[in-house]
Amino acid sequence: MEPNASVQTTEGATASADGHEALIAELKEQREKIKQGGGPKRIETQHAKGKLTARERVARLLDEGTFQEIDAYMTHRHTDFDMDKQRYPGDSVVTGFGKINGRPVCIYAQDFTVLGGSFSEVQGQKVAKVMDMALESGVPVIGLNDSVGARIQEGVYSLAAYSELFWRNTQASGVIPQISVMLGPCAGGSVYSPGLTDFVIMTKGTSHMFITGPQVIKTVTREEVDLETLGGAMTHNTVSGVAHFAADDEGHALELTRTLLSYLPSNNAEPPPALEPTDDPWRMDEELNTIVPTDPGEAYNMKTIIRKVFDLDSFFEVHRDFAQNAIVGFARLHGQVVGVIAQQPMILAGVIDIDASDKIARFIRFCDAFNIPLVTFIDSPGFMPGVAQEHGGIIRHGAKIVYAYSEATVPKLAVVTRKAYGGAYIVMSSKYIRTDLVLAWPTAEIAVMGAEGAVNILYRKHLKAVADPEAERARLVAEFREKFSKPYRAAASGHIDDILIPAETRPRLIAALELLRDKQVTLPPKKHGNMPL
Ligand code: HXC
Repeated sequence: MEPNASVQTTEGATASADGHEALIAELKEQREKIKQGGGPKRIETQHAKGKLTARERVARLLDEGTFQEIDAYMTHRHTDFDMDKQRYPGDSVVTGFGKINGRPVCIYAQDFTVLGGSFSEVQGQKVAKVMDMALESGVPVIGLNDSVGARIQEGVYSLAAYSELFWRNTQASGVIPQISVMLGPCAGGSVYSPGLTDFVIMTKGTSHMFITGPQVIKTVTREEVDLETLGGAMTHNTVSGVAHFAADDEGHALELTRTLLSYLPSNNAEPPPALEPTDDPWRMDEELNTIVPTDPGEAYNMKTIIRKVFDLDSFFEVHRDFAQNAIVGFARLHGQVVGVIAQQPMILAGVIDIDASDKIARFIRFCDAFNIPLVTFIDSPGFMPGVAQEHGGIIRHGAKIVYAYSEATVPKLAVVTRKAYGGAYIVMSSKYIRTDLVLAWPTAEIAVMGAEGAVNILYRKHLKAVADPEAERARLVAEFREKFSKPYRAAASGHIDDILIPAETRPRLIAALELLRDKQVTLPPKKHGNMPL
């Protein structure tokens, strides 16, 4: 167009190029205003708390220059409580899409500078729109959470908006990965959105999640409790298991998010992202041959085995601080993503308790939903005995592991490194819950229970009758162990598929995974099962 040329608008009016410049200048001004969120003072307060603003966080998380914001002009329509004087363009959340490591994602970031990031009708509408886009496009959705909870001034409008979010979290579950990054408070019923998502990353010191705040607890129970103990990052990473990762600061939380996404497919119809292999598929680390002590009472670090078997530096542990008697995480085998599940003999001898059951079952279900093959390492004396565990419902929780493995149709490989006693043998990826290949190391002990317990039960009367019960017990224990402390009986009957020299584990798993990559299994038609929750 010529400079200063006139243009005919649809209304028949004539606008000049100067008019266009004015329009663009106005838009730029609007954009500057939008960037201010709740205003410079509140941004200053946010920074003083050691927190970034919503837009700063989005910019830091996404690949540079990829963020496409939407709905930046939406404002609320409420007037009670002087709300008409508190309208900010975009309201209390920044939404849109962009890329992480070159792959598209949808994102929302609660803006604490606008009415504390409170969840409003508009915030609900905006978040719903990006979640719908994520689901329809088949890309992960990431929520950066920093909010005081339901916007009190909006009453039921806020609650309805939350319900819409929870409904969408449920619809999206198992279809696209959902990640919640906690960068500030998350109070009341609003915790159910992160609770419904696949992974929760909490930031130490600044993020808190709780259903009921300290003030209410004090009023109702007179109990004094501080925010960190109640719902800080370490509480939810070590005690409750609500969170999967504890970040040292915001930068770390965003870095963890990028790393986590590098292991996940964009949706349930895609395979997880493979990398060009850089590690030798034939690497056979001789140290693996001696890592498991021959004395069954001696501990060793299962993570050393994991690091030696999978591609170098590829193990990314999930739920690291929770139920440490179990290990779960992502790794790569010849560039392919797998989900690793294992016991940790260094913690409680690798026993399976309530928390370990929940941790393992949940991880299996995530991997199965997103086409990630499972590799399980077993060394467990069985389920944790005792009144506390029985009263806590170990039966119900332990059953989740059997359910999750049995239901999973992805390739399933298992390696018995040492103890696979009783229930632990069955639930931890045994052949009979349809594991494709169960391999054992020469140190594997597959038995109904440990030698001491078995001898006490089988020979109770006999041991009472003999002259030297202790010597006789020791003899019987040794005899029992000789029978069951080696995997040959189990291999002779086909209950395991092969016995490996431990150093061979890596190439054997790679070969099996290659065979099973396109494994096809169909489940009986049903609406859904009734998992023991
Ligand atoms: C609207 C709110 C608000 C709320 C705080 N603000 N809570 N606005 N609705 N629920 C405002 C404050 O007035 C303040 O506005 C701004 O947000 C920041 O709050 P501060 O208190 O100054 O921040 P801070 O000191 O960092 O304390 C954060 C906090 C505290 C610990 C989270 O705000 C707090 O305890 N809030 C209440 C949390 C809560 O109980 N929420 C409701 C949960 S029930 P100005 O203008 O001064 O900046 C719920 C039900 C959901 O969420 C149900 C879903 C199913």
